[in-house]
Amino acid sequence: MNLQNNLRTATGWEIIENSFDPEQLVTTGSNFMIGNGYMGYRGTFEEWGAKEFVACVVTDTWDQAEGSRWSELCNVPNGLFTQLFVDGRMVSAFDGQISNYFRALDMYQGLNQRKMTWQHAKGGSVVLEVEKFASHANHHLLVMNYCFKAQEKGNYRLVTGIDGAVWSINGEHFQSYKSLQEHDLIGLELHTSELNTEIAVVEGIALSGVKPESSKIRKEDKCLLRELEFKLEAGDEITLQKVVSITHSNEMENPIKTAFAEVEEGLKLGYENLKEDHQDHWKRFWERSDIQILGNLEAQVLARFNIYQAYIATPTHDNLPIGARGLSCQVYQGAAFWDQETFNLPMYNYTHPEIAKNLVTYRHDTLPGAKRKAKRLGYYGAFYAWTSGKTGDELFPDYFFSDVLTGRRIRNHFNCWQIHISPDVVYGIWSYYEATLNWDFMLQYGAEVIFEVAQFLVSRVHFKKDKNQFELIRLLGPDEYHENVDNNAYTNYLTKYAMEKACWVFETMKKDDQERLSAILEAMGINETALANWKEIAELIYLPQPDSETKVIEQFDGYFKLEDISPAELRKRLIDPGEYWGWPNGIAVNTQVLKQADVIQLLALLDGFTNDVLTANYDYYEPRTEHGSSLSPSVHALVACKANHHGEAYRYFMESSTIDLYNASKKVMSGGSFLGGIHTAAAGGVWLIIVKGFAGFEVTDNGVKFNPALPQSWDGLEFKLLVKQCLLHISIAKNSITVTSDDDNGQNITVTLPNQTQALRPGESLKG
Ligand code: BGC
Repeated sequence: MNLQNNLRTATGWEIIENSFDPEQLVTTGSNFMIGNGYMGYRGTFEEWGAKEFVACVVTDTWDQAEGSRWSELCNVPNGLFTQLFVDGRMVSAFDGQISNYFRALDMYQGLNQRKMTWQHAKGGSVVLEVEKFASHANHHLLVMNYCFKAQEKGNYRLVTGIDGAVWSINGEHFQSYKSLQEHDLIGLELHTSELNTEIAVVEGIALSGVKPESSKIRKEDKCLLRELEFKLEAGDEITLQKVVSITHSNEMENPIKTAFAEVEEGLKLGYENLKEDHQDHWKRFWERSDIQILGNLEAQVLARFNIYQAYIATPTHDNLPIGARGLSCQVYQGAAFWDQETFNLPMYNYTHPEIAKNLVTYRHDTLPGAKRKAKRLGYYGAFYAWTSGKTGDELFPDYFFSDVLTGRRIRNHFNCWQIHISPDVVYGIWSYYEATLNWDFMLQYGAEVIFEVAQFLVSRVHFKKDKNQFELIRLLGPDEYHENVDNNAYTNYLTKYAMEKACWVFETMKKDDQERLSAILEAMGINETALANWKEIAELIYLPQPDSETKVIEQFDGYFKLEDISPAELRKRLIDPGEYWGWPNGIAVNTQVLKQADVIQLLALLDGFTNDVLTANYDYYEPRTEHGSSLSPSVHALVACKANHHGEAYRYFMESSTIDLYNASKKVMSGGSFLGGIHTAAAGGVWLIIVKGFAGFEVTDNGVKFNPALPQSWDGLEFKLLVKQCLLHISIAKNSITVTSDDDNGQNITVTLPNQTQALRPGESLKG
């Protein structure tokens, strides 16, 4: 096994660090995170603060700090803050001698654990053991068990409470801090500076072991802290249990009242009961979502780590977006990009459709924002935000990067030219429908989104009379280094796809649900003549075709005429390593070097390309791709699987799955912006590589299809999928696959394996 960076695993369910590396605080804080989709709590130590990147990022708290360029989620005060002093010296991994060190993330139970023995040359020694979790039974709760054992006689002091001096990367979010106390509970009530959102953090403790000599509560700047003094003998033990509730006014009427009540209730229940409820939830989650990889422990832990990270980033409690860095920090504003539909949604479509439904419904909830954006830019219909928060209004600023050589701001057009986001949303809605056959959802929400996107595209295409075709000009495709291009293949093909889906949904509703169809069209201010436009565009949109000889699809008009150079050669032209490679003056702009999969992304998403087209395009674009985005490797793995490049597929699987765990992300800084944290799309991409890539899973009109190619170093692969309301158990061995339809399924499902097709009855298996 080769778990890098000081990490190991015993069972494939945990990652364990055996020595402390002070150089890796950003990475380990992200990797050892706990969370529940409502909040993300970084896997840092209790005694740390802002400078060690402690963060508790809470969804649905978007706010623009004064002087900041954009709105982002708030990092809220740390209610688990706890420092231990022995004769005046703080127990810290930075100072003193550390032995028996262990930091672990137990992914099966959603627990973060730490153990260490601390000893100081000037005196003092303790054994510390901590366990904490972000409850999945009540998503407001953070719960901790902090236990220490004195190794020597001495004066011990615990400083524990709420640390309000938070790490906030774009400025202060809170205009007021009010300290509150109710009986033994303490709380901070905060108001954000832009929208006046009220956020409450309430903390309560239960102590056991030796009684403190003294105990007081003090307010210090933005912190509200308890001080507990103990006189301990060697062998004495103290256990501090903490329950913290974090609530806010975007979710409820009286957040502070609820937070106090929840902490009181939590303390009554006690640590073990709270933990049991939380564990039950995780057990149920893994029951459906686990992927078992036999014969390769490293791949096993990587698969679970990525599923874990994708899941804790997903706000399962509400229709809210998955942030591009999840809740691991404030980077990318906790907002959804196209990543959500193309990388994260598929796993939920086939394992937890109720979560998938939240995500696609979120795109319906944010239609008003998408329509405002279209209108502002002179279009109609729904132009989805490139960076989408609560309302769906565009959060991406006009200026994101700056030129590291001159300090001048760079105008990036992600927000107004990267129009593929709208057809990507249709892709998401359609893939949810295809997986679940939830027609009610389509009637209630999906159809309207699809029609509004179709209308946007009608207003965005140009008709070239001389060529009798529709074209899309002034675009930014997935490859963000080339802005202002025409007929980006990915965007044009996805536009056709969206138009076809719009026509299909329209015509199906016309047959079966005329009333609802009329209601939607009326609300949109259009009538049935719209269908003719959609059909015409679907038919006449220009689709760059594979070259008749080389079979390569040109990424956009004129791409082949750009300088042909490798990313490695091009890199040598950088004057400063932090330079932005893209528009308008970056080193890649006039070359064929791509930031990330673009034509390859198209081949990964849509079916129907022949093997020679898959292979030719993979072979052409792969060496020209810089992988400047963490989205890129998983897409390459997927297409490598389709093109039967098995070695390449595995190489990119490893690259994608280790981006965070092994800190393999190339860019923490780009164009002067900090881009650290968990790469949530890459995490979702790992599920895609295994299930769609290695197992070769596809949905067919009446069932499912598998065409497995197990990586050489794996002995087997087992997982479950819920497709068209049938639960399937899939078991792949070196040269065989068995698909079993669950006993409880209510209907037959047609399963196609490489050499056979069969309609499986509940309880039946097919082996191929
Ligand atoms: C990528 C985009 C992606 C965004 C958020 C950018 O670096 O180029 O494709 O949507 O990151 O993950």
